[in-house]
Amino acid sequence: MIFDGLSEVGDDPILLVTKMYSACIDPNKVDLGVGVYKDANGDTVILDSVKKAEQHLVNSQKTKTYLSPSGNVEYNDCVQKLLLGDDHPVILQGRVTTIQAPGGTGGIRIGADFLKICKPDTKVWISDPTWPNHYGIMSSSGLQTEAYRYYDIKKGEFLYSEMMEDLNTAQAGDVIILHGCCHNASGADLTREQWNELTNFMSKRDLVPFLDIAYQGFSEGIIEDSYAIRLMSEKLPEVLIASSCSKNFAMYRDRVGAITLVSSTAELNKINASHMLKVVRSIYSMPPDHGAAVVAHILSDDALRNQWMREVDEMRSRVKEMRNLFVKKMAEKAPNSGFGYIAEQNGMFSFLTLSADQIQTLIKDYSIYFMANGRVNIAGLTEDNVDYVTDSIAALFNS
Ligand SMILES: Cc1ncc(COP(=O)(O)O)c(C=O)c1O
Repeated sequence: MIFDGLSEVGDDPILLVTKMYSACIDPNKVDLGVGVYKDANGDTVILDSVKKAEQHLVNSQKTKTYLSPSGNVEYNDCVQKLLLGDDHPVILQGRVTTIQAPGGTGGIRIGADFLKICKPDTKVWISDPTWPNHYGIMSSSGLQTEAYRYYDIKKGEFLYSEMMEDLNTAQAGDVIILHGCCHNASGADLTREQWNELTNFMSKRDLVPFLDIAYQGFSEGIIEDSYAIRLMSEKLPEVLIASSCSKNFAMYRDRVGAITLVSSTAELNKINASHMLKVVRSIYSMPPDHGAAVVAHILSDDALRNQWMREVDEMRSRVKEMRNLFVKKMAEKAPNSGFGYIAEQNGMFSFLTLSADQIQTLIKDYSIYFMANGRVNIAGLTEDNVDYVTDSIAALFNS
């Protein structure tokens, strides 16, 4: 027998929160755990632009025959331009390839397997804290990892100089995972000046960025949020970008993402892309079609694209409103609680600067579910539950 030597692996911490929330029977329960956008009613709805594009596909699609390992060519082209703009130098120079992937996760995995082929002893630097799956994926691909300091959870402070200090010890050829915008889990992003400085530093030190962008449109806007990607792709010879349409198209379960590869020359890019496609072929052969076909249709139809942009604007504005409302209410209810920083952060996530005991009290006594390290999904707040949540947190400070 060979299946009898394993012991059970614990649940992924994010999925565990969802499981606990679902099992809870408290009518006041609030889910600030899983990373999905929720509207003012607390629902994760299908965007109108997506519904229309799906209808269009039902009416017009004539075959479901195989595509190819690179997926939907129109989707790849649209996503590449969404990330880089229409006339980015790497597009004009033929130094970039985008390959459809099953979600941002699939894109990260293809990129990691590709790194293993390029340089088997690649060291990958990962921000502390980060989206935990970065570690899972890098180690599954057999890469070494090392953490760089990024954010002080207890103080609610972005650690830019500590980050630079740690990266100063990286060696030429090391890869740095960077969250393109809306850092998950801290909501703290580099300023444009800091991105410029980091890019110059990485150029001088021959460090390779692996940009992970899963929230494009949730910070300042679709184009604004791609600042780091456009900059690094312009200034650095080699770049990997894993992108996701899960959040900004609300197509979570359809698994729509991509990996974009920038190489130093057009010739090398062709060779490198062939290796990525070989990776794809050996893992899942080719990506699922539906979600990418929907995104391709939305992005190539002017009216639908505009409608989608408005829908992204709405999602972003609602999360920002909830950030401001939370901060305002906390300032009223517990003036010394010090949550002002939450209004300055981006995207769906922030950490609550609470002790481990306070976090457990909120989960166990108040049925407010979030990550045990204090990460909350601000999009889980609504006009209906914000008073319950802020009263409960204030009680911790006022007791
Ligand atoms: C930082 C980050 N990268 C990648 C992903 C993966 O997204 P997807 O669901 O498209 O695989 C997520 C999803 O939560 C994320 O937060």
